[in-house]
Amino acid sequence: MPQTDIIAKLHTFPMFSDLREDDLAALAAMVTLKQYPKGSFVISQNDHGSVMYLLVSGRVKVSLASPEGRELALNYLEAPSHFGEMSLVDAEPRSADVIAVSDCEVLALDARDLSAAIQVQPKLALTLIATLSRRVRGLIGRLEDMAFHDASHRVMRVILNVATASYEARGVPVVEGLTHYEVATLAGTSRETASRVISQLAKDGIVATKGRRVIVDLFALRDRIEGD
Ligand code: CMP
Repeated sequence: MPQTDIIAKLHTFPMFSDLREDDLAALAAMVTLKQYPKGSFVISQNDHGSVMYLLVSGRVKVSLASPEGRELALNYLEAPSHFGEMSLVDAEPRSADVIAVSDCEVLALDARDLSAAIQVQPKLALTLIATLSRRVRGLIGRLEDMAFHDASHRVMRVILNVATASYEARGVPVVEGLTHYEVATLAGTSRETASRVISQLAKDGIVATKGRRVIVDLFALRDRIEGD
């Protein structure tokens, strides 16, 4: 892959968008472009790993699997984003599986080069901390929902969070590309419960389903959750 292509891919990340060409070239020399087909594991929970990944294109699922084969999805990440930074900074085994849910391209950065990369772009360190902080907040919200609310409430919360993120990124409050099973694994419940809640919201005019797109009335859904 020519260096200029890697520089162009790095440039799509907000944290690198203000860098000069020579700094981008220095970073490009530290990363390796890799491709993962849909369904493949980029990271396996409990492995030892010393590489973090910048997701350049595609979507990954961060999830945990129980010994009986049940799945809890922690998050879905879309490009541009990053993952695999936790083992890099605390040298502990990988905290979760990261699985490509579409064909993905990543730029891999080895732990040996992290300090050098931060010297080139100090914003990288702040971005890593901000992401960790956002993920902890997300997990606190999930824990609160698990402890204090039932499965229907959790399904509504997942729909609200995904549709709000879509509205902020693309201006459309939609849940797209997630099956009812995937919504259920994010809410920690069964597919049947997720489907039942989504059909009830559709009957009440709070969401409209078109194929695999669920268009959400964010205000109405927030009111429903708050009144729950
Ligand atoms: P690491 O533990 O090295 O490998 C698995 C990665 O999954 C982890 O780093 C994080 O980058 C990512 N990860 C773990 N928990 C979450 C979460 N709740 N949301 C998003 N990403 C996560």
